[in-house]
Amino acid sequence: MSAVLSTPACPELSFVALREHDLFAVAAIESDVYVFPWTIGNFRDSVLSAYECWGCWACGELIGYAIVMTALEEAHLLNFAVASKWQRCGVGKALLRFLIDRAAAGRLDVIYLEVRPSNLAGLRLYEQFGFKQLGVRKDYYPAMAGREDALFLGLSIVRKIL
Ligand SMILES: CC(C)(COP(=O)(O)OP(=O)(O)OC[C@H]1O[C@@H](n2cnc3c(N)ncnc32)[C@H](O)[C@@H]1OP(=O)(O)O)[C@@H](O)C(=O)NCCC(=O)NCCS
Repeated sequence: MSAVLSTPACPELSFVALREHDLFAVAAIESDVYVFPWTIGNFRDSVLSAYECWGCWACGELIGYAIVMTALEEAHLLNFAVASKWQRCGVGKALLRFLIDRAAAGRLDVIYLEVRPSNLAGLRLYEQFGFKQLGVRKDYYPAMAGREDALFLGLSIVRKIL
């Protein structure tokens, strides 16, 4: 399963389910963009758990990914990142649009996610798509000095009846 979108900076982005052999490239991006990255084992477990694991490709290069756990009518975005050299080109928007469209086509009701309050880029992106804060998860994330809370966000999905 794949789909193709574009951004002003990138004429063709492909979204393709991640395979085991993509995970080294995923882990390389992950350790570049996060101070507390997932391990390659976390990604492998996600693929084996049948979570939705999407890679975003441009010019034959993996440039972003998203890991989504779906249960009943709810999706939970567990991980979402764009390679640093591709950031601020609209890739995050295109990948999130793809995930929301899939959720709508799959007749899901809501997408949940956690984000650090210090993650301005993530917060702005999610706000642009209409995510609302539903709560705070205390001490959710590791941080350089102890722990950091997570903001718990949700987006109601307008279902697309096909
Ligand atoms: C958050 C992230 C996925 C955004 O991806 P991106 O491809 O750079 O995002 P886009 O270029 O599509 O930008 C979308 C919006 O995000 C916001 N944004 C992105 N980077 C930003 C930054 N450095 N500062 C402020 N706002 C930013 C802007 O509102 C932007 O919209 P605009 O261009 O109309 O102003 C990316 O910064 C990233 O991978 N960060 C590290 C991993 C991470 O934090 N993931 C989210 C965990 S919850």
